[in-house]
Amino acid sequence: MAMAPSTPPIQTFRKEYRRPDFEVDSVELEFELDPDATVVRSTLKGRRAGAADAPLVLHGEDLTLLSLVLDGRDLPAEDYSRGDDALTIHSVPDTFELRVAVQINPAANTQLSGLYVSSGVFCTQCEAEGFRRITYFPDRPDVMARYRVRIVADAERYPLLLSNGNRVEEGVLEGGKHYAVWEDPFLKPCYLFALVAGDLGHIHDTFTTMGGRVVDLYIYSEHDNVDRLQHAMACLRSAMKWDEDTFGLEYDLDIYNIVAVNDFNMGAMENKSLNVFNASRVLASPDTATDSDYEVIDGVVAHEYFHNWTGNRVTCRDWFQLTLKEGLTVFRDTLYSSDMTSLAVKRIGEVRILRAYQFPEDAGPMAHPIRPESYIAMDNFYTTTVYDKGSEVVGMYRTLLGAEGFRKGMDLYFERHDGQAVTCDDFRAAMADANGVDLDQFERWYSQAGTPEIEAEGRWDADSASYRLQLSQSCRPTPGQTVKEPFHIPVACGLLGAGGRELCGTRVLELREASQEFVFEGIGEEPVPSLLRNFSAPVKLRFGLDHHQLAFLAAHDSDPFNRWEASQTLYQQVLLGLVAAIREGASPSLDESVVEVFEQTLGAEGMDRSLQAFALNLPGERVLGQEMAIVRPGALHRARRLAIRSLASRLQAPLTALYHRLTPSGPYEHTPAEAGRRRLRNLCLGYLSSLETAETIALCRAQFEAADNMTDEIAALNCLASTPGADGEWALDDFYGRWKGVALVVDKWLSVQALADLPDIAERVDALLGHEAFDIRNPNKVRALVRCFAFNQAAFHRADGVGYRWMADRIEELDRLNPQMAARMADAFTQLRRFDLDRQLLMKEQAERLVARAGISKDLFEILTKTLGE
Ligand code: TRP
Ligand code: ZN
Repeated sequence: MAMAPSTPPIQTFRKEYRRPDFEVDSVELEFELDPDATVVRSTLKGRRAGAADAPLVLHGEDLTLLSLVLDGRDLPAEDYSRGDDALTIHSVPDTFELRVAVQINPAANTQLSGLYVSSGVFCTQCEAEGFRRITYFPDRPDVMARYRVRIVADAERYPLLLSNGNRVEEGVLEGGKHYAVWEDPFLKPCYLFALVAGDLGHIHDTFTTMGGRVVDLYIYSEHDNVDRLQHAMACLRSAMKWDEDTFGLEYDLDIYNIVAVNDFNMGAMENKSLNVFNASRVLASPDTATDSDYEVIDGVVAHEYFHNWTGNRVTCRDWFQLTLKEGLTVFRDTLYSSDMTSLAVKRIGEVRILRAYQFPEDAGPMAHPIRPESYIAMDNFYTTTVYDKGSEVVGMYRTLLGAEGFRKGMDLYFERHDGQAVTCDDFRAAMADANGVDLDQFERWYSQAGTPEIEAEGRWDADSASYRLQLSQSCRPTPGQTVKEPFHIPVACGLLGAGGRELCGTRVLELREASQEFVFEGIGEEPVPSLLRNFSAPVKLRFGLDHHQLAFLAAHDSDPFNRWEASQTLYQQVLLGLVAAIREGASPSLDESVVEVFEQTLGAEGMDRSLQAFALNLPGERVLGQEMAIVRPGALHRARRLAIRSLASRLQAPLTALYHRLTPSGPYEHTPAEAGRRRLRNLCLGYLSSLETAETIALCRAQFEAADNMTDEIAALNCLASTPGADGEWALDDFYGRWKGVALVVDKWLSVQALADLPDIAERVDALLGHEAFDIRNPNKVRALVRCFAFNQAAFHRADGVGYRWMADRIEELDRLNPQMAARMADAFTQLRRFDLDRQLLMKEQAERLVARAGISKDLFEILTKTLGE
């Protein structure tokens, strides 16, 4: 149950870090598993590391204390005290052995933090502060210990018993029970502890490391799903190989387990040698998973595997350092994915996420540096800023130091810190020292929040054959930080001459001052500059290129990212012009420059089809909204829709021809090239379906019925679900009838409806709450229906406020069950200041109603109070 903050929730500050008073050297745990009455016995061997009179403080939450024995003596009640979330033993010897027995109720654990039951399987989630919900312990990442775990459970219901490390013993007990003992030879913080017990199927493979160690790889899931595990296994093996080849990092145990569970708050968790995964990040077969599911699974499997070095072998000193492991590991998984597919395709995907989610976060009430200064609920800081901007920051080291210099820094980082709990400063120092460079100013990326803006201005001088580029940076104030110092920003630039000729190659300019001039010599013609190539820094660039120059870059830039970027900038300018025209009541029409660029891209021969599809995609409403002084969701939606329809009707013939030319010639294949073909073909279908003619509807229906894979099937369903009339209803019913037995596909069915473009989406999602397909206790269902509804800008921001009320009702319901999820859904309200006054008031009303609720969780409290302003 959600813990009500009886007193106002407490803030924790980075600056208040102190080393632990006690170290724990070894932990022995015994679990007697029972869904509603599990007994956990622990033996901690510890020693004093701090002040002689410091008491021993152990965290604990929702635990029933059964016994407490210090050095063989039952501890009398006056020797310790217990609060809501801690147990304090007033006086302990310098070395001690503490035995604690507690009882917990996993079946009632709807927060999905600690030990809980998911579809009859016991599993754990301890990051960030879930271990304290299993037993009393100093639950902080700088306390690292050796673990030995004995699990006792009913043999028939729980034939599989797993924990970290190696299985050293197992056997049968009386009363139909059995046991297993696991030992992890590596020191680890308690957030990496894991236990799984249940009746699961699996697949097995091996991987031989570069050092010759043969590692057993197991992936577990419900029996019905074992035929959907092969992709994840292939990904795991390729990630293991890649990390050896790229960073010289090898796996360090004889066994690696991955378990798929149905109820999980996030994507996956890197527990030492026992990763627990959201089933949606493991299971894949062509008929049930889309190309993007396949890609996400590859990325997440790799991400969790990479944590074994960046996170587990070297871990975080405190939770403020989270980006040390997350930013770095995201960076490593994106590097891996781009090696597996294509640099530009991957980069565009990353930047789209950054702009749609991270930039708004950095411009809103929850803005925080990648290394935050304070938190109320740590779970609220597993953010796109810490993860994705954190990854961008790591990427900038690599841009500044080069691939080789970066590798040197990584090597030094592991040489210095293997087995330790360290800080972001330690990482930066390793990068600086390994390369003999000064990265002091670079620290500002860790301490300042907000997206820097770069203003660029250029002048070509014919007489001196030189091009002068003036770059100026600024950063808007964020909550608690009004003044920003200049960042150290790598700006990768090229200059293009007539016909798209490169005049100087790509130069990485290091912008360190508020304003700086850079001179390019030997430039004999007036160039068109290509700035911030490959998006070399997470900034907003303002450079006044006209439609003509943008069209030129879209066609000729040698940097594929910037070709895409130029098309997006052009679309954005034109779309924002359309919004203004619509609001002024003028009769809006689409600017010819867009039609030209679009047509030219549509006809491009030999272009990577994924890149082609990205370049034909108009920026989304969330991204466009950020460029408006006041977001107008209605006008934005109409403008974008009008642009799509105009393009479709002007270019119906080439779109149709390309669609048919891209028809598959054989059965489904999961390769980057085939995924690109499907992406482009489905993009054509999307444009065509916006015309809503009998002909285009028939095209969607034909694809829906003929598809031999989920990518094409869901793309067609997406089109049909936004088409008013019987075809959409028919397709949704047909789809559900066929897939109601496959939970992850049902989730897609929910999100297609939540995201559809129809006037009564709010009513539809409300009706779906009562459908057998929905369950508010399951995070995947909540994300599919509730979160996707909030992403449906037109529906969520409906002027009568029904969307806001509905969302607040869901958040309230969730907060009683799963505060982490409630807080994530509350993200829907954080941008309220960006909207018109009427909507602001409607959103505020709902946020205020939620904060006023007695028993609100600290997670939700933190998001809402920041949203409303102190
Ligand atoms: N460390 C996990 C990852 O990024 C994140 C994670 C998984 C998590 N489950 C969580 C964070 C629950 C907070 C709460 O790979
Ligand atoms: Zn991670």
